[in-house]
Amino acid sequence: MVCLGNICRSPLAEGIMKTKLPEHCLVDSAGTISMHEGQHPDKRAIAVAKNHGIDISQQRSRPITPADLRNFDKIYCMDLSVMEDVISLAENETQREKIQLLREAAGDTGQRTDVFDPYYGGMDEFEEVYHILDKATTVVAQKLLSANASL
Ligand code: 4NP
Repeated sequence: MVCLGNICRSPLAEGIMKTKLPEHCLVDSAGTISMHEGQHPDKRAIAVAKNHGIDISQQRSRPITPADLRNFDKIYCMDLSVMEDVISLAENETQREKIQLLREAAGDTGQRTDVFDPYYGGMDEFEEVYHILDKATTVVAQKLLSANASL
């Protein structure tokens, strides 16, 4: 799960996705910038997750690396600008094919395929992002589970 700062959207996406896949599936998140490296998620993201019974408070922000594109099977991006930056790290077509917008992977075809950035908003925006992520990860997790009998 990849966003810009890895303190708002992708930590939530990681925390929610972990509840929808078997424990042995490695779900992680990262940002395209290193500005918040080492920091815990934004306190509003922690609070929204907690309200829904998910603890993301121990996550730490880290920047995405080229190794992530080798090691992970799927890379889900929160918005187009993030996706462009992640694509620029891809070393070959196999890696390029791993990269998708989360909402597109979930089959959202409307005008909004970005998970909007709640950073400059308030708790209402974080709550809205939580619901967008909850819906998208439900679909994506189902697709992964039905496409991978080994999961
Ligand atoms: P995120 O939100 O990409 O969902 O973690 C943001 C976090 C930090 C900044 C922007 C967005 N920032 O400009 O520092």
